[in-house]
Amino acid sequence: MSTKLAPISYASSIVGFTSFAFTFFTFVRVFWETILTLWSAPKQMMGYLDNLRIELHNERAYFKSALRRTRSRSRSVKRYHEDIGPLKILNGTVRRIHREFIRLEKPFLNISPSRAEKDLEHDSEEIVDTDYAPMTLARRWKWMRTKSHIIAIADSVNRIQTQRIACDTTNLLMKLHTMDKSIQDFEDRLWDIEEHIMGERLDDGRIYVKRRVDRSPNRSPR
Ligand SMILES: *[C@@H]1O[C@H](CO)[C@@H](O)[C@H](O)[C@H]1NC(C)=O
Repeated sequence: MSTKLAPISYASSIVGFTSFAFTFFTFVRVFWETILTLWSAPKQMMGYLDNLRIELHNERAYFKSALRRTRSRSRSVKRYHEDIGPLKILNGTVRRIHREFIRLEKPFLNISPSRAEKDLEHDSEEIVDTDYAPMTLARRWKWMRTKSHIIAIADSVNRIQTQRIACDTTNLLMKLHTMDKSIQDFEDRLWDIEEHIMGERLDDGRIYVKRRVDRSPNRSPR
């Protein structure tokens, strides 16, 4: 019996085997990744959630103080009028994202439902010590499905940070410009005052001090 295969059949079995190997390894890889994700879920989840919670907290605090600052300044100094619109929009976005985050992290926390309701209503400011619920297998599965949402939220927070840095920079530039103008104004006035007080100005800008006529009444005229 000959074990020799016809070349075409030889080739086809190689192709068949290769594609089978690919399928098999892909399956193993996916399976392995799932196992790894399930295994590392608690640590990974805490890392993602803690990070995002802190970032959201900072952004909310930033917009809160920025809104207050801008408002009071616009009210007190008309010249500093700033458009509050973009800040308001970003503030609203942060608020929406924060709500979404609270909804997503809820299944992984050990909070009584009443506490969660209160948090949502009052938009609580302080970060309370987070008490993570024990990672059961069900929660590990849930994390696998929640993870992509959390990553999407982290992306939006990043974009908001970028935008507010751009806003800050624009405002800062405008302020510097105003400051520059007031300094020039100030210098002009100083120049005038010098002339008034001291006397004539020579061509090179220096002051020619006029001899003062002493008119003080205490001195008796000679
Ligand atoms: C800004 O967002 C906070 C919640 O993060 C909210 O309490 C506040 O009313 C918002 N301010 C404005 C002007 O929208």
